[in-house]
Amino acid sequence: MSSAADAKRPTPAVVETAAIAGAARYQLLTSLVVPRPIGWISTRSGEGVPNLAPFSYFAAISATPMLVSVSIGARRGEPKDTLRNIRETGAFCANIVTERHLEAMVATSGEYPAAVDEFEVAGLALAEAAAVAAPCVADAPAVLECRLFKEVPLEGSRNALVLGEVVAVRLAQDLAFEPGTLRVTPGSLRPVGRLGGERYTLLGEVREIPRPGADDAPTKSA
Ligand SMILES: Cc1cc2nc3c(=O)[nH]c(=O)nc-3n(C[C@H](O)[C@H](O)[C@H](O)COP(=O)(O)O)c2cc1C
Repeated sequence: MSSAADAKRPTPAVVETAAIAGAARYQLLTSLVVPRPIGWISTRSGEGVPNLAPFSYFAAISATPMLVSVSIGARRGEPKDTLRNIRETGAFCANIVTERHLEAMVATSGEYPAAVDEFEVAGLALAEAAAVAAPCVADAPAVLECRLFKEVPLEGSRNALVLGEVVAVRLAQDLAFEPGTLRVTPGSLRPVGRLGGERYTLLGEVREIPRPGADDAPTKSA
């Protein structure tokens, strides 16, 4: 059904993605799929060097098994330290980024050589994960301790998709939960999301809206 308002609406522009270059594709995609959570991934190299870097191609993809995904690009045709370490050790931690760590998180994103320990760069205390062979950010409010579940090749892409199985979750004592659940309250977490480029969003207005039940489906009138 069309209305007078539809008739006045300008026709949307359609960008054929085959017609735009790599940087433009990245800009369009990552300024529209927003806000994106940030997995602040900590690993250790085979030689024992701790590594920490943020990844916003990061998502929760399954609860059982509990899986997260991280898409890691290449640097000058070589795997980034995070990917190399995950391949070497089969383990990583996804530290949840919150307001108080925003600047520190950005500080760990520098394209540093493998020998650099980003925990030191950002002045962050390191702790050992309880269940996997990887370090984590000692005062992160929540840490997903992951073992490598699968690396999925993305044909034609410079990115490697890493799936991690969360085998333990480290939780700070000051996190609050909705009564009777393991649902962490946003107010106690204060999460950060990534917008396009170098912009981030902090917790704003939170609205709670109950979902419709099956009984709420409209019935066809005869
Ligand atoms: C907020 C933020 C999100 C990022 N997300 C990604 C990402 O999803 N994939 C990626 O390959 N690089 C991403 N980067 C860049 C990496 O953090 C950067 O290349 C880093 O140096 C990788 O470190 P590594 O070589 O120690 O693994 C992101 C940077 C920032 C600041």
